[in-house]
Amino acid sequence: MTTSPSTPPLQRYSRPQRSAHWWTAALMVLTYASIESHGFLQRGSFARLTVVQLHYWLGIAVLAITLPRIARRLREGAPPIEPPPGAAARLSAGAMHLALFIFLVVQPLLGIATRLVSGHGIGVPFTDRAVPSIMADRALSKAIEGVHEQIGTVFYAVIGLHIAAALWHWARRRDNVMQRML
Ligand code: HEM
Ligand code: HEM
Repeated sequence: MTTSPSTPPLQRYSRPQRSAHWWTAALMVLTYASIESHGFLQRGSFARLTVVQLHYWLGIAVLAITLPRIARRLREGAPPIEPPPGAAARLSAGAMHLALFIFLVVQPLLGIATRLVSGHGIGVPFTDRAVPSIMADRALSKAIEGVHEQIGTVFYAVIGLHIAAALWHWARRRDNVMQRML
């Protein structure tokens, strides 16, 4: 396909930003799938322990990707949207992305905190090793776990909205929002 000389170059998020976004999306599927599936496995079984431990480390991987991603995002900013959206749309997208970034940091931290105060630590899958707990307070661990689970449930909806908005931009508004992330 040829482009006319007046066609502006496609401006996208930088490669590290795009790759961090899609790795995070894939890890989120696995993080949710691992914890949602553990209920189907027999209590006390090796399989159940393994998927729960995989949940911990998939979540930690999300955090490890997100921290440098945020630093880079603050440095680089975002590419322009063509045609530019109105002020209300910009504001709601900004709020949505901020909420997602906060979630990607706070949710793993709450999970880590749950385990670090549980007395059992963060078990490493397929080994008998664990990052040790700093204390054993079952009530506190359960309280943090409750918040972690509630946030996890709420963000099913938030992530669903995010994906719906991206698809709407791509299929209906036909702007470059999606192309910027591909
Ligand atoms: C973005 C990352 C994460 C997401 C989206 C997430 C999501 C969830 C969700 C939805 C549940 C509730 C599942 C249910 O209702 O049965 C859950 C449970 C849990 N998560 Fe996470 N989590 C993340 C990271 C972590 C991390 C990093 C850890 C620990 C290192 C962790 C530890 C736990 C624990 C201990 C539970 C309770 C499991 C149980 O019922 O035995 N999570 N998580
Ligand atoms: C099929 C799934 C997904 C699609 C199609 C998608 C699409 C997009 C698109 C097109 C953007 C650019 C929006 C803009 O700049 O205005 C974006 C940004 C973003 N997405 Fe997703 N996304 C998906 C899944 C996820 C998931 C699972 C998460 C995390 C839970 C996530 C977190 C984010 C964040 C934090 C941004 C803001 C990026 C920034 O400002 O640097 N996305 N997404």
